[in-house]
Amino acid sequence: MKRLLFTVCCLLSAVCVSADEVTAAKYDIIPLPKEVKVMCTGFDQMFAIEDGNGISYDASNAECTRIAQFLQEWVKEEADVKLQLTPNDKNAKIQLRLVSPAAPKGKKSKKPVTLTDQQKESYTMKVTEKGIELTAFEPVGLFRAAQTLRKSLPEKNGLGLIMPFVEITDQPRFSYRGVLLDCGRHFFSVEFIKQFLDVMALHGCNQFHWHLTEDQGWRFEVKALPDLAKKGSVREKSIIASSKVRLYDNIPYGGYYTQEECREVVKYAAERYINVVPEIDMPGHMQSALHVFPNLGCTGGPYVVAPHWGVMREVLCGGNPETLTFLKTVFGELCDVFPSPYIHIGGDECPKERWQKCPKCQAKIKELGLTTENVKVEGDGGRGSQDGRSAENKLQSYINQEIEQFLASKGRSLIGWDEILAGGLTEDAIVMSWRGTKGGVAAAKQKHRVIMSPNVYAYIDHPQLKDYSKSPRTTDSYVVSCSKMYSFEPLVPEELTEEEGDCILGVQANLWTEHIAYPEHALYQLLPRLASMSEVQWCAPEQKDFENWKKRLPQLERLYDKLGYVYCREVE
Ligand code: ACM
Ligand code: ZN
Repeated sequence: MKRLLFTVCCLLSAVCVSADEVTAAKYDIIPLPKEVKVMCTGFDQMFAIEDGNGISYDASNAECTRIAQFLQEWVKEEADVKLQLTPNDKNAKIQLRLVSPAAPKGKKSKKPVTLTDQQKESYTMKVTEKGIELTAFEPVGLFRAAQTLRKSLPEKNGLGLIMPFVEITDQPRFSYRGVLLDCGRHFFSVEFIKQFLDVMALHGCNQFHWHLTEDQGWRFEVKALPDLAKKGSVREKSIIASSKVRLYDNIPYGGYYTQEECREVVKYAAERYINVVPEIDMPGHMQSALHVFPNLGCTGGPYVVAPHWGVMREVLCGGNPETLTFLKTVFGELCDVFPSPYIHIGGDECPKERWQKCPKCQAKIKELGLTTENVKVEGDGGRGSQDGRSAENKLQSYINQEIEQFLASKGRSLIGWDEILAGGLTEDAIVMSWRGTKGGVAAAKQKHRVIMSPNVYAYIDHPQLKDYSKSPRTTDSYVVSCSKMYSFEPLVPEELTEEEGDCILGVQANLWTEHIAYPEHALYQLLPRLASMSEVQWCAPEQKDFENWKKRLPQLERLYDKLGYVYCREVE
């Protein structure tokens, strides 16, 4: 420390700068930690990370070992300082420690303390004259702490990495902090998916919603139905202009993930404390499957894998018993591959035009005694569909119920887009509210769990700048700027009571890819908006301040640059 003090003073006198201008760590990172107490009034209250400093961790714990390795890698690659892994070393300058949670005051119990999901992710980071200490109850908390240290690091100078003394205490606001990537409209390589997961982890996100099937391509290998991915993943051509001008490239487009690749993604994500929520979107958005199995459609086909975007009227037949057999085969294999507690069944945008005329669908409606009720309910069956409790919407609800029970037998819960409200929610359904917050509010009032992903705040396929000419072409009906996204309050306090607000598991940003075919473009859409979303997901409302967020952004962008991430360099 003496050497540090001396050199900093020399540096200061030599170049005649103020203490603020010395390159030292800045802890006002994104997302902003819950509490940051900087305890540094002078140069004797700073610690310098130097080459050769050790990282100590519990070597008997594989997760702690991996987190120490991550930290070593980040500090080397992003700050050019080489740390050593020195397990179980009390004298190491950087300590990663798991601690036991204390029982609440006044309650002495031998039973282990049960932590909420958010408490499991909590951590502290202290910088003192001894070095840096990261503590948490669970490895996931240590991982979050290591990310905070990584994001705080200054540029290296002659002294190493200067860290003013600090005490940070942190815990996320929501347990579900998601991002969706649509791999149906365009296929993204496993290599890119891994990069996407790295970006998510950098922003404290923990749920990767993998949209695996679409009208335009089936991307998940189902071993019992080998043609499904082989043939259903390939469209003969893709639209190259707006949907009003049907011009096509005439180039076949395809790609799917083998189960082995999906398992590789699950493992990579889990190592970064991200759960993969797979989605098979049904009974609408199924034209790629109908291409392979035309018997599952109301008309019998033939059907093509869709070459253009939009809502297709061809959907799975709700009255054909083979539809449920097909779905159970698909969801069965999906559950084998993805250990996620949540499985997304889609449920959005399923026009009922075919079902209204289909003898099989109508026979099933009769058999189940489903009738159209003239009651006002939140939501309709999607674009081009019917309002509320129509018999056809109830038929969709019947399919959901069958799948919900099937998933429950495997210990999983179902998530569906908010259209699943229309025919009546099934017992355990989690609603993902995308057409604004109304569906989420209605579901929370029925005590269902909810994930908020309202399009006007959370759809990152839309432009982030008002002047469209400054960005690559994308979905252009409205702008979702960083400030718009930042202003979102997921608990909708004007409509939900505190108890109903407890049903909101969290928030998700969605990257649909009709107009996004390349990794660079996907990253451009994502960044820096994910930095904005990350504070909606992580921070308490009283902490949020967009102007302050903007001031903190350059430090994160410096890291984007080091990591080679493409991002939008203007913020509105
Ligand atoms: C959706 O955007 N159709 C869920
Ligand atoms: Zn039918």
